[in-house]
Amino acid sequence: MKVLLITSSARGHAIADALARSQHNPEIISVSTSHNPGIIKLASQQHVIDIMDFDRVLEIAKKSKPDFAIIGPEDPMGAGLTNILEEAGVPTVAPRKELARIEASKGFTRELLEKHGIDASPKFKVFSSTEGRLMNTFIDQDLEGNFVIKYDALKGGKGVKVSGEHIHSTEEGVAYAKECIEECGKVVIEEKLIGQEFSLLSFVTGTKCIDMPAVQDHKRAFEGDTGPNTGGMGTYSAADHSLPFLTQADIDRASEINQLTAQALLKECGAPFVGILYGGFIAVKDGVRLIEYNARFGDPEALNILPLLSSDFVEICQGMLNGELTKSMVSFDSKATVCMYITPKGYPENKDQRGETVSFPEVPENARIFYGDISEEKDGTLKLGGSRTAGLVGIGDTISQAQQVAQKLCEQVKGPVRFRSDIGTSPVIEKRVQMLSELRS
Ligand code: AMP
Ligand code: GLY
Repeated sequence: MKVLLITSSARGHAIADALARSQHNPEIISVSTSHNPGIIKLASQQHVIDIMDFDRVLEIAKKSKPDFAIIGPEDPMGAGLTNILEEAGVPTVAPRKELARIEASKGFTRELLEKHGIDASPKFKVFSSTEGRLMNTFIDQDLEGNFVIKYDALKGGKGVKVSGEHIHSTEEGVAYAKECIEECGKVVIEEKLIGQEFSLLSFVTGTKCIDMPAVQDHKRAFEGDTGPNTGGMGTYSAADHSLPFLTQADIDRASEINQLTAQALLKECGAPFVGILYGGFIAVKDGVRLIEYNARFGDPEALNILPLLSSDFVEICQGMLNGELTKSMVSFDSKATVCMYITPKGYPENKDQRGETVSFPEVPENARIFYGDISEEKDGTLKLGGSRTAGLVGIGDTISQAQQVAQKLCEQVKGPVRFRSDIGTSPVIEKRVQMLSELRS
């Protein structure tokens, strides 16, 4: 059994780890944009190339003849790598380009849900004319000045601007919306929602959708949810696979929205979605709304979820590819997890620590370390890159136990690094529970 794994980063390391635990003992052929010291140890080959160079990827695929491929990040999916690999006879766990629009185009997603009667969106409108008057009216009158502007194409997580955070007046909002239209032809303007965000990812094959444990991410750089947004400083999940601030009805509704969206995609595109459907939700005053969809594993979410997977990941991938995935093929340990990202001290503002040495403690049985932007010298010394260094995951019976494991591990890392020590701590979680309960009372 051979698997072509097209991804780097800590998320890629977590996927490689899940593959390596399979009883099918697959040979992993890694294709990644940089050497990943974690993936290298699990793979038989690592090809470091530009993964957007599809000719090169195809060449490696043809030479290695994998049983299937997995694509980690959104850019190659959005640009049609799945289509190219499948046309060359390589079944691929990742949606085809048409279906990956669920992540690549915010306008497509909002219109898909509307067309198929899935009531999960905030008030929204898609604009394609730079004539500002209609946008102005929509923001001021319909949204009463609480709005979000969304670039309508992939932008590395930097296309969304929220009023009161990144934008401070209607004029600024309209100016950014015009910029979006000039660059990518369309913009989504929508109501700003207030609530608690969470991620619910599902393994999907056509209309079959099997959920993973729910996770909450922490995007802000510093303790107390302050500072600029990052790729995600850390995440937690609970032993019951829900989250402390959610009701059963919330989690059921998020699950249903993923299910309905998979059905809508099949109807709309005439082809089944195969891969990971990642719903970014927000629990609000009167239920659950969809913030956005991704068509891949989340980073850090995958770092929480995949270590808990107690069934065989290769069989899940095969089940997604042949449409025979069943609930009994997917099981997760009833454990809580906390993932804390170690980053260079200056992250995200500066990259001054790039190239400095970092070292990690031994990994106990109830923890994992997944390597991100880090390189390895010939003698095994690890060096920092400019971005997130490694995700350190604690596993326990409660979130609090998992938090202590992750924190202890983070404190033992040597080098010019930092982490957000509040992720998964009781005061932070209680604040979130209280916030939502006040909103709903
Ligand atoms: P991204 O993951 O870069 O697409 O950015 C999405 C982030 O923007 C989310 O995690 C939210 O924090 C915020 N966001 C997006 N849409 C909304 C919305 N309608 N209301 C409130 N916040 C939103
Ligand atoms: N956790 C955010 C993302 O993967 O996009």
